[in-house]
Amino acid sequence: MKKVPLINVVDVICHSFRHLDPRLINHGERVAYILMKMLDDTKRYTNQEKQDIFMLGLLHDIGAYKEKELDSILSFDLNDSMEHSVFGYLLFKTFSPLPEYADIILYHHHCNAQYYPVPISNYHRDIAKLIYLADRIDIFCVLNNAKDLDSFLSKCCGTIFLPSDIRWFQETEKKHRLLEKIDSLKYQEELRTYTRNHFSLTESQIHNYLMTFIFSVDFRNEYTALHTNYAVQLSEHISDTLRLDVNSRSIIQLAALLHNIGKISLPSRLSCAKDYDQYLTDLYRNSTLNVTREILEEAIDPQIIHIIDDSFLLLECWSNNTPVTFKPAPATEIVALSYLMSNTLTQELNVSRFYHPKLLSFLRQKYQTCKMDNSILLTLERHFDKIIEKTQNSCSSIYNIYQQMMDEEHSLNMILLHYNNKY
Ligand SMILES: [Fe+2]
Ligand SMILES: [Fe+2]
Repeated sequence: MKKVPLINVVDVICHSFRHLDPRLINHGERVAYILMKMLDDTKRYTNQEKQDIFMLGLLHDIGAYKEKELDSILSFDLNDSMEHSVFGYLLFKTFSPLPEYADIILYHHHCNAQYYPVPISNYHRDIAKLIYLADRIDIFCVLNNAKDLDSFLSKCCGTIFLPSDIRWFQETEKKHRLLEKIDSLKYQEELRTYTRNHFSLTESQIHNYLMTFIFSVDFRNEYTALHTNYAVQLSEHISDTLRLDVNSRSIIQLAALLHNIGKISLPSRLSCAKDYDQYLTDLYRNSTLNVTREILEEAIDPQIIHIIDDSFLLLECWSNNTPVTFKPAPATEIVALSYLMSNTLTQELNVSRFYHPKLLSFLRQKYQTCKMDNSILLTLERHFDKIIEKTQNSCSSIYNIYQQMMDEEHSLNMILLHYNNKY
């Protein structure tokens, strides 16, 4: 019997997009849908390629979670720098299961560009053009009357878009009435059926898509860059120490990864430690937790939502020093402990060992005041230095990747700026 995966990663991503800028709600999934229908009848691509192009369509604007970029996505000005293509390219290249396709993200607005130091094959350029066509069709219909689409497409025919791609879209539209289905939201059911019945992703591909998505949110600024990662690493090292089985570890890893996914609805502009403190406060507001629930509902195994809910209750008791009136499952306790520690530690990458006894006595006091069974804490205490050390090592390597990405982003954006000023 086929094992039911714990998570539908496409659903998590689609649901998260609904909490972005209202003008762009569902943009990624509509672009993926247009591509899915166009690709449906063609033999030009294999089924695997069709699935990969669908994911590229869904995630083509993944680098756009910075407010400035959300404005530029809606622009039809060809001189706009479209920096989100650069950030999205770097995210895709570094974390996604399709690094070889990252160049398509880089070229998805300026498809014919020759100025990037990243070579692109004609095969990939054609996919970039196809994605850009689906992208512009969607943005055009958001901003204008869909009746005027044909005249818009004929204006761009042969210059921006390939005439054969435009014909391909128009034939698909005639046959399947995509725009009507987009308008009535009926397309969402087709999308769900497609991903449920025709999609096959391995556990590691799911994990990598999820990491790409979560880092696209956390990497918006350096204060939050390690926020999720620190907690995920801690929860993995604690699970390791407790010798939990593989299934429990996968559940804990997903709960730790998705614990705060509602943060996508929070503003990303943090410029000092005080802003980060405010961000942490906002993360634990009910409104953010509700967004997390809305995103995860029907997209992941209900036991993971249950663990996330209970871990929030536990964190609340710890924060208010009130007794815990339920018996938390070990998974819940590990996730909550990881976040409690991560919120204290993420600002300091190299917490000195002198700080460990202080943190431990803080945890002991929380367990005592909240009248909790301390068996997990006792194991944690015995291996504390090792767990923190391992966590810090894995986090500093992610932090180095973050810094390298920011450097590369800066130099690619300089090329863009130079090009835009010159031509
Ligand atoms: Fe874009
Ligand atoms: Fe787009």
